[in-house]
Order: sequence, then structure tokens, then C-alpha cells
Amino acid sequence: MCGIVGYTGRKESAPILIAGLKALEYRGYDSAGLAVEEKDGIKIVKSVGKVSALKSEVSNYTLHGTTGIAHTRWATHGKPSTINSHPHSDCLGEIAVVHNGIIENYQALKDELIKKGHTFKSETDTEVIAHLLEEKLKSVNSDYENEFLKAAAEVTKMLEGSYALGLLWKKAPNMIIGSRVKSPLVCGAGENENFLGSDVSAFNQWTRNAIYLDDYDIVVLKENEIKIYDRQLHEKYYNIIELEQGLEQSGKNGYEHYMLKEINEQPFTVRSTIEAVLKDINTAFGITKDELKNIKNILMIGCGTAYHATMVAKYWVEEFCNIPCQAEYASEYKYRKAAMPDETLAVFVSQSGETADTVSALEKARAAGFKTLSICNVFGSTLARMSDHTFYTKCGSEISVASTKAFTAQLAALFSLSVLIAESAGSISTEKKGRLLNELAKLPVAIETAVSEDGSISKLAEKYYKEKTFVFLGRNVNYPIALEGALKLKEITYLQAEGFPAGEIKHGPIALINTDMPVISIMPADSLYDKMVNACEEVMARGAKAIAVTDEKGYKLLENRVEDVIVLPNVEEYLFPFISVIALQLFAYRIAKLNNREIDQPRNLAKSVTVE
Ligand code: G6P
Repeated sequence: MCGIVGYTGRKESAPILIAGLKALEYRGYDSAGLAVEEKDGIKIVKSVGKVSALKSEVSNYTLHGTTGIAHTRWATHGKPSTINSHPHSDCLGEIAVVHNGIIENYQALKDELIKKGHTFKSETDTEVIAHLLEEKLKSVNSDYENEFLKAAAEVTKMLEGSYALGLLWKKAPNMIIGSRVKSPLVCGAGENENFLGSDVSAFNQWTRNAIYLDDYDIVVLKENEIKIYDRQLHEKYYNIIELEQGLEQSGKNGYEHYMLKEINEQPFTVRSTIEAVLKDINTAFGITKDELKNIKNILMIGCGTAYHATMVAKYWVEEFCNIPCQAEYASEYKYRKAAMPDETLAVFVSQSGETADTVSALEKARAAGFKTLSICNVFGSTLARMSDHTFYTKCGSEISVASTKAFTAQLAALFSLSVLIAESAGSISTEKKGRLLNELAKLPVAIETAVSEDGSISKLAEKYYKEKTFVFLGRNVNYPIALEGALKLKEITYLQAEGFPAGEIKHGPIALINTDMPVISIMPADSLYDKMVNACEEVMARGAKAIAVTDEKGYKLLENRVEDVIVLPNVEEYLFPFISVIALQLFAYRIAKLNNREIDQPRNLAKSVTVE
């Protein structure tokens, strides 16, 4: 949420900053801006809208400078506008600040600064940082670089909340200061150039050497130097990590949208993730079978789509392991007084590994002494670095804001983990473990077939894209998929979409049903098939158009009783979520396309939500 880029080196900074912003645009795209250090001072250019709008705004200027910072915004304080977009500056225009996070005590700081005579231009929380720095630096007449560093350390101590910062000061040219607390910030170490970024995609086209900052670190970047300090300004030792090849954005590869490309990648990404686990399942999650043997409770935590993956996993864990398992929204878990039983394994699921709510929930679990395991897609992310153990899903970059391939890879990891825990706890035999994993390994073929249903799903979308409300129903492992199908649809079409456990509709939601409303039921021919047929009958009796997402066996049993059917291959009943979700991803995509929506960057959303 909000993307930061910084560059200092020998090249013109503006084009590099814009390319970095473009790669970070998934973090926010309501406005953007950059600050370049020119010979006579800092020049700031901003614009409302996407990075492409900033790029065309920048083309109206001749910017020259080899040091700069930039920002793409997802508004928290203050509506999207040119004034509110970053970088922000002090009264004299000598300081530039880009910020990701929320300064919770900004109003008190702002009131104090106004009393001291500072004039604010924006409604943002960020602007206080520029004025606080101005206050600290106003009487400095020498040793500018060192004084800038000291001022940054003092100012960051005054801030409450979360921040990743990039700072410039006219009097300390060719130098960027960065700092972070609870918002991600990474440095890129190049040759005669160094970078700052919210994540490595900000700079991985120029250097593959990354330095991940810890909370409270303060970094000074110059052309040939990176120095990292703690809050007391003691210099710290740091590791440079070489980034793996091949995980960067590779473009849309001929697809019209990243979302469609990513849906189509799922046979490969699920296969790669399964292969990574099955190479040696006993060590894949880092946690030993001896440790797992003693687990008495499992807590699964995530947000959005990742939360739906944890909900599916809850069914698997309790089915195979006979261990209580709770799936929780991170944002709820972190503030409620939860029971904290001993011998709990807390599993955190997140594509980005940076979601602020999930990170706070992890802090809570750590404080309770739980064993922590994260399932993330982004190497070196905050969750990965804070957890006892991490398993990385093998998706490559997921660019579309609506998550697709990360979800099925998370399911693959969680299914394998459930099986491993079950075997370790003695709830299933080694033979059953082998059988379950064998079924999992066969999935990519079924996923390929599900993806190839795009043609029939497109036709269905043509029939329904003008509807205003959609209801999704499922039971057991397919109930979270009903929620995920509804979430996908609302994220990218802005239409009302609600998911319910099919057994619950008679307790209230059925009041929503009216004539011709599409009701999508996920109903393979499993042990609850007949119950799902009943749910279809109930909504059809009230005029709804029932759409069944079923398997070949279920299709035969249905005998044209519903309005429309999406037929998917037969798989074991607990694995149907892997393929039903693909049909629903495609359904949402096609409806969004017919409604001319901004599919990869839907309004009001951001891919990585690094604020509460
Ligand atoms: C945001 C995105 C969702 C995503 C959620 C969790 O809300 O818009 O698509 O599912 O964050 O993200 P994570 O990176 O933790 O999986």
C-alpha cells in the first residue's frame, strides 16, 4: 500500500524512478509523484492517477538530477489529489519526503508545528515529517550530512504508527535517507548506484543485490555507499542477499490482463509448489515431525483471499488430523482477547508477506509463545523474516490486484501441511499420507482442464453480466470457495456478490433472492451433493437462476434441473476447491471485462495493504 522508490547514482534519476514506480503500482495507483535533486534545489512533480499520468506530466519538464525519490499512493489521510500526493515538502521547499504507512499522532504534531509558524499545504499525515525535519535542521550551518542523519533519527523517534520513508534534503545532496517501522523497505546495492524500494521489484531490473531493512533501521544511501544505523545511530552490520533469477515481472505475455495470465499460469504454479513440497515433505516447512507431533491446536490467519485459503485448510486439518483448527481474519485476531492455549502452531498465509494486519497478528502469536509458520510468495518479506519457519509458494510475481494463482498455491501448501501434521500426529497412516499426496500431485492436469473452460464460462458471462447481484453457495470445503468467488466478483466488477454456506440461506439470506437473480452453487458429486441440490431447488422456487459448478459425475446426476452448468473434471471431494475456484476466477474476469472494468487495478484497492 503506497510504493516508494529512491535512486542515487550517476544516471538521470527520473526515468529510473518512474520505471520503479511502474513496477510498484500494484501497491497503490490513485496518484504519484517524484522529487529530483537538481543543481539549484529539489524539483517535485506530482499528478493524480496512475504512474502513466505522472510520466506524461514529467515530460513537460526538463528534469536533471542523479538523486531522487518517488511514490505511488493509496490514499489514507486526504483524498487523492495533486496536493495530497507525495513527495511532501517543508515550508522552504528544501526537504522532500515519501511515506508509506500511517502516522497516528500526526494531528498533535501538526498542531505543535502550526503553533511554531509552519504552513501546511496538504491534508496528509506525511507532511508533518517534512516540517519536523525542517524544525530540526533550521539552524544547521555545517556538517550537513551528519546533521541530516541526526535529524532523521530524532524525527522518527517522534512518530507513532507505521512508516517506510525516503527523505531528501537540499543541503545534503546526493544522499537519500530511508527508515522503516512496520512498513517494508529494501535497499538495492548496485555499481556506482544504490536504490531504495518498498520491495525488490522497485529495482530488480538494475541490481539483484538486496538488503532488507529491519524495523527502526535508518539507512543512508549514496552513490558508492550504503550505511545502516539503529535508532541510537550505531552503525549496523548487514547482509546483502542475491535475488533469485526468474521471479520478476515478465509482462503480460500476450494476455490482455495480468489477471487472465495469472489464472492461466495455475497449472504451472500449483505444480511448482507441489514439487517444492514433495521434494521432501518432511523438511519442506522447516518444522520437524517431532515438533508437529506435539501440536494440540492450529491457528490459521490471513486477510482477503489468503484468509479464504486458511478457511479451506481448517476443513482439511480437522478432517485428517483431528486437531482443533481455527481460521481467523488477522484484523480480528489481533485486537480480540483470544484464548492462547499451549502447543499451538500458528500458520500465517499471505501472498505479499507484508499485509499489516497479518504481520500484527504474527506479533501477537509470537508474544504468546506459539510456533509460527508463514506461507508467503514474496522472498524476504516481513512475515517470512519474523516467523520461525517459512514456506514459499512458487508463483513468481502476482501483479493483478485480485489474487488468483497465489490462492491455489497456498491451497497446495496448506493441503500438504495438513497431511504432514496428520501423519506426525498419528492420525493417518503413512500409506494414507502417500495416497493423499498422490491425489494432490495429479491436480495440475485437472486444473488445466478447468482453465480450458474459459470459452463456456465466457458464454455464461455474456448471459449474466448485466445482473446487479450474485449469490454464491457452497458447503464444507466449497463454502470458502463461495466466499472467494463472491470476493473475486466484487473486487473486479464492483457488483454486489455474496457468498453463503448453502445450509444457512434458509436462515436469512434467502430473503435476498428475487426473480432471475443468478445463484452460483459449488456442488460436486460429493457427500453433500443432495443438500446442494436442495439449496438450488429452494432458490429456484423463488425465481432465481441456478448455476451449478459441478464435476462430471454431478452433471450427470443433475439432469437439466438447473438453468446453467459449469462442468469441471472429477477430483477427490476435498480437492474440488482447487478447480472450482478457477471457474469462479474466470467467471469474475469475464463479467468484469464485459463491464469494461479496470481489471488489474480495481478502484479503491491495493494489492499489498501495509496499513491497518
Ligand atoms: C489485499 C488484496 C487482496 C489480498 C489481501 C491479502 O486486500 O486486495 O487481494 O487477498 O490484501 O494480501 P496478502 O498479500 O496478505 O495475501
